[in-house]
Amino acid sequence: MKVAVFALLAALPFATAVPTWEGLNGRSSIGSLIPGASQITAKGPVAKPTEVKHLTVHEPGTIGNITIKPETRSGSPMFYINQNALWLLVNETTVYPVNIHNSTGFHELPMQLVLGKQRQGVTAGTWRWKGTQLYYDMPGGQSNMGLYFHCLTKSGQFNTFMSPVPVAPPNGCQMMTLHSFTREYK
Ligand SMILES: *[C@@H]1O[C@H](CO)[C@@H](O)[C@H](O)[C@H]1NC(C)=O
Ligand SMILES: *[C@@H]1O[C@H](CO)[C@@H](O)[C@H](O)[C@H]1NC(C)=O
Ligand SMILES: *[C@@H]1O[C@H](CO)[C@@H](O)[C@H](O)[C@H]1NC(C)=O
Repeated sequence: MKVAVFALLAALPFATAVPTWEGLNGRSSIGSLIPGASQITAKGPVAKPTEVKHLTVHEPGTIGNITIKPETRSGSPMFYINQNALWLLVNETTVYPVNIHNSTGFHELPMQLVLGKQRQGVTAGTWRWKGTQLYYDMPGGQSNMGLYFHCLTKSGQFNTFMSPVPVAPPNGCQMMTLHSFTREYK
């Protein structure tokens, strides 16, 4: 998705040296350089008041299942919404989409968030911000109402799931909401 990021950066007169995901040191002001880009913070039983958890992948710098983790020394990735999709900002030339895999066949919750190199899976819906909160709306009026689930899966990992309509957390899952607290409001 080089085109999208170039278009984004071309609009910024001063964006000559955007810090990379691996080089953010967790304290970067990249959110103010890329309009609308920010870390995404989980709220709910998954997050203790003393330990902030962010949306990320299991192995920094790789694609794969989305999860939430405490901030590491290399920082947590930044995300933004463009053309109804949610993107992870890798570096100044690359963004990766947060895809929705149809998990109906192997999980009680029908949608799993997976970082991919290209958009695939369920693409019918729309990511949006409602205040600080991240929502996913499906055509026809369904919405996850900003609810996500942190679930222990058979692979032994905690991964991130959601449902096109609000549901109670299945066994092995904790409910959470996802927020952008540093995004520039437009
Ligand atoms: C990603 O999640 C799915 C379902 O939760 C799991 O089957 C798969 O093994 C996970 N992938 C990796 C690389 O762990
Ligand atoms: C950006 O990240 C991509 C994917 O990891 C990599 O192939 C590319 O070389 C990186 N570009 C820069 C300028 O660091
Ligand atoms: C997921 O797959 C199931 C079974 O194939 C299907 O009924 C359902 O509509 C799919 N969900 C989405 C959001 O595409």
